[in-house]
Formats: sequence, structure tokens, C-alpha cells
Amino acid sequence: MSFETLCYRDGALYLLDQRKLPGAQEMMRIETAAACADAIREMVVRGAPAIGCAAAYGLALGAREAARESSAAAQEAIFLRARETLHASRPTAVNLAWALERLSTLRAGLAAQQRPADEIAAHLLAEAHAVTAEDLAACKAIGAHGAPLVPEGKGILTHCNAGGLATAGYGTALGVIRAALGAGKKCDVYADETRPWLQGARLTAWELMQDGIPVTLLPDVAAPSLLASGKIGCVIVGADRIAANGDVANKVGTYGVALAAHAAGVPLFVAAPISTFDLRAADGRAIPIEQRAAHEVTHVGSVRTAAEGVSVFNPAFDVTPAALVSAIITERGVARAPYAETLRALAQSR
Ligand code: MRU
Repeated sequence: MSFETLCYRDGALYLLDQRKLPGAQEMMRIETAAACADAIREMVVRGAPAIGCAAAYGLALGAREAARESSAAAQEAIFLRARETLHASRPTAVNLAWALERLSTLRAGLAAQQRPADEIAAHLLAEAHAVTAEDLAACKAIGAHGAPLVPEGKGILTHCNAGGLATAGYGTALGVIRAALGAGKKCDVYADETRPWLQGARLTAWELMQDGIPVTLLPDVAAPSLLASGKIGCVIVGADRIAANGDVANKVGTYGVALAAHAAGVPLFVAAPISTFDLRAADGRAIPIEQRAAHEVTHVGSVRTAAEGVSVFNPAFDVTPAALVSAIITERGVARAPYAETLRALAQSR
């Protein structure tokens, strides 16, 4: 791929600033856990797996900040504050909490062995590298498992950006598309623009075009009629959190696309790594849905388009009920209903 979503070099995390795409390709240097949390909150980096990788690096930076303190109490306080700040940065993508828990568990084990703080920080950085490498490998495996599900010679519709920009690279939904096209399938790719942040228009279209993959962009409101037209063979989307019963939280608008796909008899596939499973959430009602600022809806860029003072409903995500999900494609294989059994079996398999 022609871009790097995130990387660690010269003692800092670098994030591709996705707010500036497609106009400019700039990396932001991050040296502290607080700066990393800000970058996640402000959508410099976004997409559940990429948020997880960034948070892992952010916590490793927090451990390095803690190691500069001489007392164990101060080290603990700084580390815990870093973890809480990162945890609060965005609520829906469970990969964030998953990555923080993974690094915190590692730290607790090392601390119990009385290892020095700078050694612990080095281990946490190595773990962040591992989280990122594993995510890239998972995306490739998701692509390989998902490609056979893609109908030959039909269109594929995707919503939001579940591509290399949303992961350590390659993508989940776009990973399946990349793998299907790579296997020689002839499919036209359609991307919803994805109001209000325009992840489809600004990110998915740009990312696919960077790779020479032709893509047709449509306004979100055109998705139902495109699905009804018979041109689309399947919908493929990513996920921010998948509950134990197979309910899927993803970018707002996914639920509407799922309803329209169901009405048109088009399968909807969800592509996501196991790190996006939240089996502690019994169903979608237990998934926290991020509410974002009103100006994202009342303005396009910096231009006001809605009457001053209007009330705004701006959830960043919605929940697609499991009944509308034809399959969930993971790095360990494809799950189908009944998800309460198949997701648990995949999570426990190795
Ligand atoms: O608000 P965003 O841009 O972080 O939302 C991203 C999505 O909803 C993606 O579809 C999801 O995180 C999966 S990314 C592989």
C-alpha cells in the first residue's frame, strides 16, 4: 500500500492525519499518552483496529513517561492516568479497551516480578508492535477467508472505511475486496460517502484509488435504490464491536444499509478481527454508542448548513441486529448464525 496508517520510529508514534485526507498526506508525531488520546478523540486515527493499535502505542508511551518518575507510587499514578485517558478517548470501538487490557495485564505480570520501570516500558512497546503486526496478519487472513464469499461479476457495496486506513494495513472489509479482486474476481466496488465524516468519500475512495482499484462513490441516500437495482452481489462492512449474539455496532448508516440489503435479498457480510468481539456484551443494547458534536451535522466543513440553534441527533454508530448479518468473517474463519454458539467457538479456537 502507498501509505502507512501508523508506525513507531525515533522514539515516537506517527499517525497519518486522516482529517486531512485526501487533500494532504501528513504524519503527526505523538510522544505522550495524552497526545495519543487526543489524536484518537479528534479522529486523526480512526477505525476500530487502528484505534486499538494506536492505543497500545499510547499506553507504551505512558509507561515510558511513568518510568521517568523515581517513586513506585508516582509511576503507578502516571500509568493509570494514561490508561484512563486513552480508555475515555472513544467509547464504541472495543479494540481500544482490548488493547489497553492486553498491555495492562502484561505490565501487572512484570510488576509482580519487580522488574524495573524502564524494562516494563520496553516490554509494553514490544507488545504494541505485536498488536500491530497481529492486526495486519489478521486482516490478510480475513481477506483470504472472505474472498470465496464474494459473488463473481457483481457489485460490492461498502460503508464507511474499513480499509488499511482503519487497521494496521490491508483492511477488514476492504481486505476481503482486495483478496477477491486479487483472486481474479471481476467486481465493481461501490462506496457510500458516509455522512457526516465522509469516511467513504474522503478515505475509502482515496484508499482504493491509491491501489488502482476502481470505485464508484454514492451518497448514502442512494444505497437502497442501488441495492434494489440488482447490481450488488453483497455488502461488506467492518465493525466496531460485535456482541455475543452477533449484533454488530458499526458506523451509523450500516443498519439502514442492512435493512435495504435484506429487502433486496443481498447478503451482508461483516469483516472483523476477533479483537472486535465483546462477548461480555450479551447483545447490541449493551454496546455504548458514541454521540458526537452537533457541528458535524449543522456544518459541512466550516460552512453552516443548518439553522442556528437546531437540535441535533448525531450518533457515530448504530447496531445492526444479528438477524440481518449473513456471515461474520474473522481471521480464524467465517461464523454464521446461530452466532451465540459460532462466535464463542471462534473466540476459543486457536
Ligand atoms: O468513526 P470511525 O471512522 O472510527 O468509524 C469506523 C467504522 O465504523 C469502521 O467501519 C469500523 O471501525 C471498522 S474498521 C476496520
